[in-house]
Amino acid sequence: MANITYVEANGASTTVNVPDGWSLMQAATTNGIDGILGECGGSCACATCHCYVDELLMAVLPAPEAGELDMLANVAAERKPNSRLSCQIKASAALDGGSVALPECQE
Ligand code: FES
Repeated sequence: MANITYVEANGASTTVNVPDGWSLMQAATTNGIDGILGECGGSCACATCHCYVDELLMAVLPAPEAGELDMLANVAAERKPNSRLSCQIKASAALDGGSVALPECQE
């Protein structure tokens, strides 16, 4: 389980207790966080779950796999070094206390 804070582009901040194995996209859409759309349901095919991870998450997450990197090339908002697809990030205790900033647009 991990407490993850989502910071939307308008500054609204929501902390969600994400069960182990859930993706950060799944937790966001389940909890009504508007800044993540997740249109493909988490199959790494839409890039509407783009987020910017904080330093804690940067340090503990494995590098993106090829499919995620391909989709990151198609994000609607600016791609940054800490850009990730939240559907590809699975919660675990190691992520506890992390936060993700959400871009102004997803499509
Ligand atoms: S939900 Fe579609 S790529 Fe993440």
